[in-house]
Amino acid sequence: MATNRTFTMIKPDAVQENHIGGILHMIEEGGFRIVELQKLSLTSERAGQFYAVHAERPFYNDLVKYMSSGPIVAAVLEKDNAVADFRTLIGATNPAQAAEGTIRKKYAKSIEANAVHGSDSDENAQIEADFFFGK
Ligand code: CMP
Repeated sequence: MATNRTFTMIKPDAVQENHIGGILHMIEEGGFRIVELQKLSLTSERAGQFYAVHAERPFYNDLVKYMSSGPIVAAVLEKDNAVADFRTLIGATNPAQAAEGTIRKKYAKSIEANAVHGSDSDENAQIEADFFFGK
């Protein structure tokens, strides 16, 4: 069943460079309501669990190291068609391919340090939101 929620993280590079406010502004201007919001640090174990689906990928170890290198901001967002619309707002994973006006075009530095995460399906949005905010 399609839901109207998605999950996002503002990644360590964007937090470090003082872009929390700028990114949240783009999210709100994009029509999303912030339902949950928390700044926290991931241990490498927790980062590894979050990205377990990528465990076999060559970039996994570096990704885990990067995602546990400093604070992140985790959030649940609400909007009609949230998952697809948020992926449009953030742009392509690789910022070199991200469209003008997207969050990654503006803030991402590389394919790894790409400023934000966005869930890729309703099912994963629920799993990822529960990972941080589940009771
Ligand atoms: P994200 O959308 O959070 O999902 C997986 C993350 O792995 C991705 O953003 C990037 O931060 C990181 N990553 C690093 N290298 C790659 C790559 N070659 N392809 C896809 N994702 C990558």
